[in-house]
Amino acid sequence: MRGRESTREKLVLGIETSCDDTSCAIYSSRRGILLHRTAVQLDHARFGGVVPEIASRSHLVTLPPLYDSVMERAGLELDDLAGIGVTNGPGLTGSLLVGLSFAKALSYGSGVPLVGIHHLEGHILANALGGEFDTPAVVLVVSGGHTQLFQVKHIGSYEFLGGTRDDAAGEAFDKIGKLLGLPFPGGPAVEQAARGGAPEAYDFPRALKSTGKCDFSFSGLKTAVRLKVEELGRLSERQIGDVAASAQEAIVDILVRKSLLAVKQAGCPSFYIAGGVAANGRLRERMRTEMEREQIAVSWPPVEYCTDNAAMIACAAYHHLRSGRSDGLDLNTFPRGELVSWNTSGP
Ligand code: KG4
Ligand code: ZN
Repeated sequence: MRGRESTREKLVLGIETSCDDTSCAIYSSRRGILLHRTAVQLDHARFGGVVPEIASRSHLVTLPPLYDSVMERAGLELDDLAGIGVTNGPGLTGSLLVGLSFAKALSYGSGVPLVGIHHLEGHILANALGGEFDTPAVVLVVSGGHTQLFQVKHIGSYEFLGGTRDDAAGEAFDKIGKLLGLPFPGGPAVEQAARGGAPEAYDFPRALKSTGKCDFSFSGLKTAVRLKVEELGRLSERQIGDVAASAQEAIVDILVRKSLLAVKQAGCPSFYIAGGVAANGRLRERMRTEMEREQIAVSWPPVEYCTDNAAMIACAAYHHLRSGRSDGLDLNTFPRGELVSWNTSGP
C-alpha cells in the first residue's frame, strides 16, 4: 500500500507573477509539464521598461481567468492537486503579492498544501522539467535581474560561486537595446540586430576578465556602448548591427569565460544555463563549443522555459513537497534575497 501511494502520480500547480509575466502551469510527477500558459504584458513596451504599478494591476486582471483556463483545459479540480507552488521572491512586491494571495486563497479553500518558491530555484529547475538533471552541476542563472553562478550538489543544495557586482546581463542587453533605439525587451531585439552585424567591429570592454573569481560587471559595457553611440551620431542600419553584435559578443565572452572558470573550480562534469538570457542563440552556440572542448556536458531549457514561466515553479514545488516541505498561510513575499539550500543532507 505504501509503495503504491508513493508511485501515484502527483500533480502540482505553479503560479509565477514576480515581474511582468503572468503564468500558470501544471506539473506531473510522471508526465512532466501537462499544461503551461504565460500571458505577456505588452503595456510596458511604450515606457521602455517594466512599470511596477502596471505590472501588479495587470496580474490582478489576468491571473484568475488564466488559472481557470489552465485547470479547465487540464480537466482538473483543486482537489486533484498534490500542491500549489508560487514564487514568493525575489521580485516586485506588488506583483509577487498578487500571485501569493491568489495561491493562499486556493490553498485555504481546499486544504491543498502551499509551497513558496525562490524565483532563482525555479530558473535552475527549468532544467529538470524534462526529468533528467545531472548533478553535481554548475548552473549559470542569467536573466534581467540576476547573473549568478551556483554549484548544485543535488536538488535543494545550492552553493553560490559568484555573481554580478552591478547590472545583470539581461539588464545590459535591455539598456543597450534602448541606446540603439530597439524595441523592449532589448535582449531578443539586440540578438536579432546582431545577426546583421560584425562582432569584431568594436572592441567593447570585458570587465573583471582576469580576476580569477566568478564575478561579473556589466555597467562599464553599457557606458562604453553609450559613448560609442554618441560618437557615431545618427546610426545607420549597418552600425546598429555592428554595435549590437559587438556588445553581444562582449557579454557572451565574459559569461563563457567565467562559466568555464566555475566549472573548473567546482570540478563538475555538467553545466546548465538558466534564465531569460539562456534563450540567446550566440550564448548557446559559444557555450556548447567551449564546454564540449573541455568535455563538460552542457544543456539549457527550451526557450519558453528560459524566460519567466510557472512550469519551472511547479517543478520546483514538486521537489519540495516530495521532501515533505510546505509553507503555512503566514508565508510572505521578499523583494530581494539569496537562494539558500533547503536540503543539505542528500538527494
Ligand atoms: O528570466 P527572465 O524572463 O526575467 C527575469 O527573471 O529577469 O529574463 C528576462 C531577460 C530580459 O533582460 C531579456 O532582455 C533577456 O532576458 N532575454 C534575452 C533574450 N531573450 C530574453 N537576452 C538576450 N538574448 C535573448 N534572446
Ligand atoms: Zn526570471
